[in-house]
Amino acid sequence: MTAQATGASIEPSDEPTSLFLRACHRLPTERTPVWLLRQAGRYLPQYRALRGRYSMLDLIRTPELAAQVTLLPVDAFQLDAAIIFADILPPLIGMGLELDFVPGDGPRIANPIRSTSAVDMLGVPPAAETLPGTLEAIRMVRAKLERRRIPVIGFAGAPFTLASYAIEGGTSRHFTRTKAFMLSEPAAWKRLLTKLVTVQADYLLAQADAGAGALQVFDSWAGRALNRQDYLRYVAPSNRALFAVVARAGVPVINFSLGVAPYLADAAGCGGDVVGLDWQLPLDEAWATVGLGRPVQGNLDPASLLAPWPELRHRIDEVLDRAGARPGHVFNVGHGLVPETPVDNVRRLVEHVAARTAT
Ligand code: CP3
Repeated sequence: MTAQATGASIEPSDEPTSLFLRACHRLPTERTPVWLLRQAGRYLPQYRALRGRYSMLDLIRTPELAAQVTLLPVDAFQLDAAIIFADILPPLIGMGLELDFVPGDGPRIANPIRSTSAVDMLGVPPAAETLPGTLEAIRMVRAKLERRRIPVIGFAGAPFTLASYAIEGGTSRHFTRTKAFMLSEPAAWKRLLTKLVTVQADYLLAQADAGAGALQVFDSWAGRALNRQDYLRYVAPSNRALFAVVARAGVPVINFSLGVAPYLADAAGCGGDVVGLDWQLPLDEAWATVGLGRPVQGNLDPASLLAPWPELRHRIDEVLDRAGARPGHVFNVGHGLVPETPVDNVRRLVEHVAARTAT
């Protein structure tokens, strides 16, 4: 599927000037654009200081604070996109799940789904009602960054990934309960994923309405949990449905499905304009698999930022070399930056990508 096929097609007269958006349309850029997953996270001392004073949910729900955190890395480094400070899980709160982020333990849901009737109790409220803080934060960041031509990326989780949190009650290693539910209650599974598609599609469209210049869908766990046959049967239909609706947003949509190397073409085939690549395959091989006609984003292993600079530089160069001179590459890490990441390595990475790719 090309950009033309999914609604992000553009006329030459309104070609974007942002490097990131140009790359999302496979237009030539004067250098390779770069932004980083979890660029506004715990590796930043200013973020840790704010987290000392506010809970995760307070940071997300207070537009001024969410906007402030979003801008931290964009003001510190020459990044080409901001990603709104939020999380994939708060939409579950509006559906009726009691979510909290427990320090040292990650996300926790106090009333996880353990029955088919619990699926039928879930609501599907609009994002404007349940996530107004994030939508307002997007408007604020957009107003701040418009002059600098830095777009703000909105995002949401894909149905399987959210279903796994709703059923397990937290991050899972083996997805045992999720898979048991999926296999034992296929009808209720379908109803659950359909509700999640409704909520996530509305949330993504609302973020684009609020001013997000691009949208990213995170499917973090389907590839980790399922083989190809189960992915195609239990996950792909709802991902396709989600991308089909979100194509109406009129902004580029990034399909970032982690751990899907064994069936990357199937996962990318679910939709989205740009394919986000995790760090498992060499970039050139992954790009050939999804099709050279589609823009890609990625795919440095975030652990590379824990290496001494010469090794990190070598690994950045390898990603850039494998991307080559073809338009349509957004440099990024292939999963989120870890809290131990030295701030200096982020600065050096961003500077090096710019210096190495400037034409
Ligand atoms: O900078 C950014 O990337 C934007 C903000 C963002 C966060 N989470 C903030 C966050 C984004 C895009 C996410 C996505 C997210 N959240 C995913 C998909 C990407 C991925 O990592 O696979 C997932 C699975 C989640 C769920 C989640 N949120 C977990 C498992 C955790 C705990 C583990 C961890 O990494 O800390 C969170 C918490 C979270 N979300 C933090 C941040 C900055 C750390 C919270 C803290 O300060 O304590």
